[in-house]
Amino acid sequence: MSDQTEVLALATRLAKAAGEIQRDRYETPLEIQTKSADVDLVTEVDKACEALIVAGIEAARPSDAILAEEGGGTDRAGATWRWIIDPLDGTTNFAHSYPRFCVSIGVQCEGEASVGVVYDPLMDELYTATRGGGAFRNGSAIAVSVEEKLGRGLMATGFAYDRRRSEQDNVQEFRKFLKAARAVRRDGSAALDLCYVACGRLDGYWELKLSPWDVAAGCLIVEEAGGRTSDTRGGDEHWSGLHLVASNGHLHDAMLEVLDGVTF
Ligand code: IPD
Ligand code: CA
Ligand code: CA
Repeated sequence: MSDQTEVLALATRLAKAAGEIQRDRYETPLEIQTKSADVDLVTEVDKACEALIVAGIEAARPSDAILAEEGGGTDRAGATWRWIIDPLDGTTNFAHSYPRFCVSIGVQCEGEASVGVVYDPLMDELYTATRGGGAFRNGSAIAVSVEEKLGRGLMATGFAYDRRRSEQDNVQEFRKFLKAARAVRRDGSAALDLCYVACGRLDGYWELKLSPWDVAAGCLIVEEAGGRTSDTRGGDEHWSGLHLVASNGHLHDAMLEVLDGVTF
C-alpha cells in the first residue's frame, strides 16, 4: 500500500469515528466556551473529536506532523507528512442544533496538499480526494458545475469571528455578489461549502480570513473535482486560509474581479 493510500484510509477512518461522536451528541446539552471573540465558540465535542483524531494519527504514524485547530498534536518541523485538522467545522451551527457541520482532515506531503477528507455525519456524506486521483462522494466521482455566467451562479460565503471589531467584515463584498450572482448562501461550514463547490451544488464560494484547517481538505477536493482555488488576488495564499476563492473554474475570474481591492 502506498503512503498516500494508507493516509487516505486512516483519515477516512478517523473522520468517520469523529463524525459518529458528532451524530451522537447532536441536539444534546453541550458545554460551550468562547475563544478569540464572544461569537467564536468551542464545545466539548470539538475537543473530543480532536482528541480522537490526534490519538489515532499518533498511534499509527508517530513521525507525522499535526496542526489541529484546538491545539492538539505536535507540528513537527521537517516531517514529510503533515495533518491539518478541523475536528468540527461549523461549531456555531452544532451549538445551535443547526444541521450543517463536518469533520475536515487535510494532509500535506512535503508541503503539498495530498489527501483531503471531509465527513458530514448527519447526511452521511464522505468527500475524499487525493492529489492526481480525483474527488469522490461516498465513493462516486464528483465534478464541479458547468455554469459560465456569474449572474446564474449560486454562491456561498462566511464572515470571520472578528467581524464585530474589524472593518474588513466582508459586507461590501457580500453586497456586490448579492447584486451580481443568482443568490448567495451563508451556511456556516467552510469545509462543506468547498465540498458543495466540488460536487456542483454551489458554483462558487469566497471567504476572508479563514485558517489552514478550514481549507486544507476542501481546496484539494475542489481542485480534484475540476475546480479552481486561489486567494483573492489569484495567488496561492489561500492555503494559509487567507482570503479564499473557490469556483467551478469558469466563474473564477469574474469572482476575482468582484473581490478586487480586498486588502491583505
Ligand atoms: C468556521 C466555519 C464558518 C466560517 C468561519 C470558520 P469553525 O469554522 O467554517 O463557516 O464562516 O470563518 O471559522 O469555527 O466552525 O470551525
Ligand atoms: Ca473551521
Ligand atoms: Ca472547528
